Amino acid sequence: MPNGFSLEKFASHPFYEEVNRRLVTLTHLRPGEQVVDLGSGTGAVTRLLAEQVRNESGQVIAVDPSDSAIEVARRNLENLGDVVIRFVQGSAERLSQLVKLPVDAVFFCNAFHLVHEKEQVLREIRETLRKEGTFSFNTSFYQGAEPPESQRFYKRWMLRAMRFLRDEHGISPDRTKVEARIRLTEEEYVTLLSQNGFQIRDREVVTVQMPLKSFEDISEYSLWIEGVLPGVPLELGAEALKHGAREAFEELGLESSPRNWLLVVANRV
Ligand SMILES: C[S@@+](CC[C@H](N)C(=O)[O-])C[C@H]1O[C@@H](n2cnc3c(N)ncnc32)[C@H](O)[C@@H]1O
Repeated sequence: MPNGFSLEKFASHPFYEEVNRRLVTLTHLRPGEQVVDLGSGTGAVTRLLAEQVRNESGQVIAVDPSDSAIEVARRNLENLGDVVIRFVQGSAERLSQLVKLPVDAVFFCNAFHLVHEKEQVLREIRETLRKEGTFSFNTSFYQGAEPPESQRFYKRWMLRAMRFLRDEHGISPDRTKVEARIRLTEEEYVTLLSQNGFQIRDREVVTVQMPLKSFEDISEYSLWIEGVLPGVPLELGAEALKHGAREAFEELGLESSPRNWLLVVANRV
């Protein structure tokens, strides 16, 4: 796979920048601030943050457990100039050990839903933030992310991908390997933050229209393939998902499919 099963291609779609940029705008960063980009991946959000805090004392600390994602981010951001970007390999569960200074803001974009121990991670984020610092996250994996009019597409996509795998390769996903991940509702996220030392400052749901190409691109992302087709080799999973997305779009006569992103900005109390 040319992009090594990373999020890079998907992250270059304009709607993806839109939902991340909107969260950055709602947070109101200032030049010179110290910001953590948690779960920074290939650096799409890191770039937006660097643009905001850019000056001689501004710094973005990009933290991600994946060495290969950090490598891509480092390459993408090396010519940014005028701002310090530090890359740290590690996970949210250990944030306070990885980042010692109190920072002004922590961002956790498109990744908070991946964490099982959300309360522990919120404690780590609190410990890393200065008093009244901001915690901002967005996610499109919460209960309500898939509008009713998109559900036929998702069902058809998965059915067509599985039929392709079975007919062309004689394999099926291994349901015993599926990781049970509970999707929280918007209200549950809000309550979770409120009960763990944060005060909600802003929240928004942004609906974007996703074109076929974006579904083909997310079909090449390892975490997505492993999540929806557990146990299937990445190469075959990507092929099946791309095929399934194309068939579902064609059969349903779609030009795009809508998806909701939840955006939340909170202050450390
Ligand atoms: C969908 S990507 C999002 C990347 C980037 N934040 C963005 O919005 O484009 C999710 C990222 O979360 C990272 N991740 C997964 N589990 C994590 C954890 N426990 N702590 C921190 N990051 C994690 C993955 O390695 C991956 O790079």
